Formats: sequence, structure tokens, C-alpha cells
Amino acid sequence: MSEALKREAAARAVAEISSGMKLGLGTGSTARHFVELLGERVAEGLDIVGVPTSEATARQAQECGIPLSDLDTLDRLDLTVDGADEIDPSLNLIKGGGGALLREKIVAAASDAMIVIADSSKIVDALGRFPLPIEVNRFGLGATRRAVADIMRRHNAQGELKLRGPSAEAPFVTDGGHLILDAFFGRISQPEALSSELLDIPGVVQHGLFLKMCRKAYVATPNGVETLLKGN
Ligand code: A5P
Repeated sequence: MSEALKREAAARAVAEISSGMKLGLGTGSTARHFVELLGERVAEGLDIVGVPTSEATARQAQECGIPLSDLDTLDRLDLTVDGADEIDPSLNLIKGGGGALLREKIVAAASDAMIVIADSSKIVDALGRFPLPIEVNRFGLGATRRAVADIMRRHNAQGELKLRGPSAEAPFVTDGGHLILDAFFGRISQPEALSSELLDIPGVVQHGLFLKMCRKAYVATPNGVETLLKGN
């Protein structure tokens, strides 16, 4: 899907921002458009503060002149705007394709609302076609991996479990210094149960299932931007 369409979805979210708002700033190629457009409005006088969900977004936001803060300084945020890897009909999400899922979830959970911006390729009937990113501690990786694999078998996963990165010796490392296991499910039929089972594994830091966190999505299609609302 073209960058122009992602930008249209981002522009719809930017139109909802007003002075005084405290914002979570998402990560990824669609969120990049949001941060850039937000920066243009800040240059015109919009008075907001942003909390970035990754080091990459923090750098971009600084370049765009967006004032930044953090969740130690701010109590609650009004809104987080972020991308997604999959969006189901209940606006449950898979996130973490860019590896920022932990900070993305912390920031979204500290926000009164979350708007997702995406193109229509992200819409699915059921989550799981996109491999579920699972952020894990480096210590005890083998044990954590076996425990995740057991859960995958119980949930009838269709594919394998892969350590993200070019090789086991040079894995992808998150902003928090953790590793990511990508779990190919095919179809996740019980996302709530899967979520709590994964979080019960001591080595799992967080996973990319964002359940009941998003109430609105702007989805760009070749025919325009559609607004999806939870419950519709
Ligand atoms: C980052 O970790 C992800 O959660 C992104 O928000 C997600 O991968 C969507 O990214 P794109 O907008 O680049 O598709």
C-alpha cells in the first residue's frame, strides 16, 4: 500500500489533535507520517506534548520540533496514535512488527484513548496471519522458547517460532534490551486466553496482542479513509 494512503490515515488522526493535549506517539512507517504532520502543526503554533514509543520516534519527533516528555513526568495521556500489523473486527490488534511493542503498550495503557492508523492491508477476520511478536528476556531464552512453543501447540499454531534477527548470534534487540520471538499462529481463536498464558511465562516481557485497547481506527483504502469504531 502506498505511502500516500498511509499519510491520508495519519492526516485524519492529526485533525483530531488540539492544543493542550498530551499524546502518545507511535512507531512504524504509518506513525512516521503522523509525527511529521503533527510537527507541521506544532510549527504553526499547536501546543502539545508527546511521549514517544521508541528511540526512533523520539529522534524523529525531536527533528520535527515536537516537545517531548515521559510517563514519569506525566500522569495520564489524552490519546495515543499508532500503527498496527493486524486489526480484527473488534479492533483488537497485533503490534510489534517494528519491535516497539513493549513501549507501545505501556504508552497506550497510560492513555485515555488509542487511535490506530493503517492501510486496508492490515484488516483481518481473525488475528494471527501476521506472526505474533513476543518480547522476551535474554536470560533463559531456551526455556522461554520451549514454554512459548508448548502454548503454540495447545493453540493449534500453524507455523514455527523464530528468534527475530539475521542470526542467533546477532538477534534483533529492542529498545529495552530484550529479544523478540515471532510466533506464527495462522489464526488465533482465543486471544484473551493466549494473552494470559504467554504473560504467565516468567521470561516473557510482553507480547504484541493489544486487546480492548483501541476504540477507533482510520484505515486508508484506495477509495478514501474509512473510520472503524469499536462496536460497529
Ligand atoms: C511497531 O513495533 C509496530 O507495532 C508498528 O506500529 C506496526 O508494525 C505497524 O507499522 P507500519 O505502520 O510500518 O506498518
